[in-house]
This record gives sequence, C-alpha cells and structure tokens, in this order.
Amino acid sequence: MATLHVTKTDGETQTVEAKNGAQMMEALQAAGLVEGTCGGAASCGTCHIYFADKTAAGERTEDEGYMLEGLEDFVEIKEGSRLSCQIEVTEAHDGLKIEIAPEV
Ligand code: FES
Repeated sequence: MATLHVTKTDGETQTVEAKNGAQMMEALQAAGLVEGTCGGAASCGTCHIYFADKTAAGERTEDEGYMLEGLEDFVEIKEGSRLSCQIEVTEAHDGLKIEIAPEV
C-alpha cells in the first residue's frame, strides 16, 4: 500500500491509499480525482498527473509519450508529467506528492 499526497485542481490536498500492483489511475479514480475515460488505454489523457519530484515519475511508455505530446496544445506538460494509468503502484510511491493536471 502506498499513501499518495495529492493536490487537486482546486489547490486542496488529499491523501489517497493505492494498492501495490494496481494502476495508480484506479486509486485516483476511486477517490473521484481523475476520470480515466479510456479505462487505462493511454488514449484519453484524463488521468494526467504531475509528480512534484520529477525523478520519482519514472519512465513514460511509448504510447504515453505520444499521448502527452498530443495534449501539449491544451495543457502544460512538465518533466514530471505521467498518465497515471500507465503507472503500477509500488512501495516506492509511498509518501510521494502528486498533482492532478487540469482537465483537457
Ligand atoms: S485513463 Fe485514459 S489515458 Fe489514462
């Protein structure tokens, strides 16, 4: 289990518990923080998050990289940008700060 410290789009913060081995998007979706419209296929961009510590963001998948490129005209893409559906939760995520990206 990893406890995520999440800053919402309205600036408020909330903690979210995410199970190890699950998609991070699922935990954020269950908390009502992201839509996850495509169900985790890296094709909608509604699960976009920013890691406060870009070194903790991990490697983007190829599809994820293309999707984030496609979003660039609509929302800021940062070094710590990830699609949370492409992240498998591990102990390494425990205690990390993330921010929900603005809706696209
Ligand atoms: S849920 Fe659609 S891109 Fe992540």
